[in-house]
Amino acid sequence: MPSPVARHPDLVAYRDEFPLLRASVYLNTCSLGARTERSRARLETFLTDWDELGARAWYQRWLGELDGLRGDLGAVIGAPAEEISLTPSVSAALAVIASAFDPIHRGDRERLDRLAEAGIAAGDRPRPRVVTTALDFPTVGHQWLARQTLGVELEIVPSSDGSSLSMAAFEAAIDERTALVATSQVFFTTGALAELGALARLCHERGAVLLVDAYQGTGIVPAALSETGVDIYVSGTLKWLFGGPGTAFAWVRPALHAALVPTTTGWFSSARQFAFAVDELAFAEDGRRYELGTPSVPSAAIARGGLEVVREIGVDRLGERTRDLGDLLIGLADDAGLELRAVRAASARGGIVPIAVADPKPVVDRLAGDGIIVDYRPGVVRCSPAFYNTEEEVGLLVERLAAAVPAGDRRIS
Ligand SMILES: Cc1ncc(COP(=O)(O)O)c(C=O)c1O
Repeated sequence: MPSPVARHPDLVAYRDEFPLLRASVYLNTCSLGARTERSRARLETFLTDWDELGARAWYQRWLGELDGLRGDLGAVIGAPAEEISLTPSVSAALAVIASAFDPIHRGDRERLDRLAEAGIAAGDRPRPRVVTTALDFPTVGHQWLARQTLGVELEIVPSSDGSSLSMAAFEAAIDERTALVATSQVFFTTGALAELGALARLCHERGAVLLVDAYQGTGIVPAALSETGVDIYVSGTLKWLFGGPGTAFAWVRPALHAALVPTTTGWFSSARQFAFAVDELAFAEDGRRYELGTPSVPSAAIARGGLEVVREIGVDRLGERTRDLGDLLIGLADDAGLELRAVRAASARGGIVPIAVADPKPVVDRLAGDGIIVDYRPGVVRCSPAFYNTEEEVGLLVERLAAAVPAGDRRIS
């Protein structure tokens, strides 16, 4: 067994709180983070409140819980609770945000002026283009592919190394017709970090907005909203926030609210939600303007259990331990003769370590038969140790992986 190398070994004490870690060697947090017992307790409280209070639970408990959830998410990304928009999925957040770009694509003067007031000098011409990349999660591009009938053009920037995106590739793609660049903070198959600060500067120089899908980063990579200058940040609780499905969120730089007015909406976005005025739509001044209908309160309860742990430990320590375990995995995989598709520098990596395997599914199934849970994407076994994993678990994974991958299948695809 390798000697321990990862910082913050004390965090292993949290393992007792995550039942899944007793059932398997779980190294698939980039797909679904494990659940803490705190989530079960909060879900029980939700059910009890429902049984005891009925609809009074809305005012006495649940609206407060939703505000608490906005506060937790805001604390993790460094934004006030009021700037968080709750959505049921990243896709839903993106759909609402995409709807706000329609007038900018058409060249609506008033909206372009509002963008300029927010520091993004978009000029006075239509900006029908959206730039995304070949490494982004499909739902990002799909929002704008679905708008092709409205005249929107989607440019998909290829990755020259199959792992990351260079600034030169973005420089070539972003022009005076680009309204938005929509890409990831951490790419979901390769684990590479995007250079968000440089990308935000480039976007703003060319009059475009930068949207970041941070699903694979939130909880282990600081959001650094003001340092990087990103304009829109979307993410969810399913992975590195240990908060389960059903809760996602958006943050839109408040200065952009006047420029980005949604046309896909719901009553939670209304400034006077409980006035029940069918003939009036004044959007909330805060992040709620990008919300839809009733959020899933049981999902919120579950999510808050995971977020409590994340807030207690802090993104810095979570990120350090996650990347240290990634370093260990990379070193052991090298020694075992496995082919890595991972980014080697810890500073350029999130929590995903992909290992090249020509036909990964049978390998992942075989490991699952041994109680070791990882997943796959085309041409790679995707491994993602989290803070609660041990060095021994990482060692066991590499040992079994090396035994399960035939030498001829160890190729870079
Ligand atoms: C980077 C990234 N973005 C988006 C998603 C999907 O988000 P949702 O299902 O909430 O729309 C995922 C994974 O499920 C992802 O890894």
